[in-house]
Amino acid sequence: MDNFLSIHDLSIYQFHELLDLSGQVKAQPQRFREKLKDKVLAMIFEKPSLRTRMTFEVGMLQLGGQAVYLGPSDIQLGQRESTYDVGKNLERWVDMIMIRTFNHQIAVDLAEYTRTPVINALTDSLHPCQGMADFLTIKERHHNLADLTLAYIGDGNNVCHSLIFAAAKAGSRMKVATPPGYEPDPNIVKKAEEDGADTGFVVEVSNDPDEAVREAHAVYTDTWTSMGQEAETKERAHIFAHFQVNSDLMAKAHSKAIFMHCLPAHRGEEVTDEVIDSPQSVVFDQAENRLHFQKAIMLLLMGIKK
Ligand code: CP
Ligand code: NVA
Repeated sequence: MDNFLSIHDLSIYQFHELLDLSGQVKAQPQRFREKLKDKVLAMIFEKPSLRTRMTFEVGMLQLGGQAVYLGPSDIQLGQRESTYDVGKNLERWVDMIMIRTFNHQIAVDLAEYTRTPVINALTDSLHPCQGMADFLTIKERHHNLADLTLAYIGDGNNVCHSLIFAAAKAGSRMKVATPPGYEPDPNIVKKAEEDGADTGFVVEVSNDPDEAVREAHAVYTDTWTSMGQEAETKERAHIFAHFQVNSDLMAKAHSKAIFMHCLPAHRGEEVTDEVIDSPQSVVFDQAENRLHFQKAIMLLLMGIKK
């Protein structure tokens, strides 16, 4: 594997291999303590972060390596220096590059220009590390991913897209409900359907949250206003008002359904306190599993499989 930009790029074998390796790293962290000794990860952040920054940085430290944080005002990608020039510099100093940016093409370009592996740590269109960590969390509770129904309620953007790609590889059923006009990108849905043609994957997109959560083993939501969309906050609060995950909606899902959120959560907006603080909620397991997945993807990109 040269880069990790999208779950779509993984073979079905690699998808399961990554989940297995994440599980091993979680169960026996001491076994991996020196595996990335002397390796350095550059972390380019053009947007804020708690989980992604912490899990990459702590993950690298726990593997014996180091991470260097480059915030939005540091390199000013594309303004102070072109993506090409930034990549050509970084590849002389570090072993891996992680990038969180706006336009997905910037991550694709960086990967193309550098010989160093590039990891997508969120773009406007995808959040693959989140999707993989979430499938690890689901797998821990619902062992047979091929039998899973996952409902996603809210904005059909980056997190939703990566969950769709993960569900396609896993052979799960994915039911998405968004307000009209906020459906997932049809090109991504089409690609996922191709990926999942032989896995048993089914994706259903509607504008009806009640229907989407029916039979769901996991109910997932994300912020109504993603990073970079802050000017639309008020308008979106109105548009998404009927897409809140509250106790009434959870009661319509499978009786043992778990509640999932990538975080940060906006309590009282996309999710109520009652749901996110309920025993059904696995949001902090998801956050923990970001660490284990991050370690697994860095190990695999450095050629270490066990
Ligand atoms: N879920 C997630 O990526 O969180 P951060 O934005 O805090 O990294
Ligand atoms: N959709 C959200 C995810 C945050 C982890 C955003 O892009 O801001």
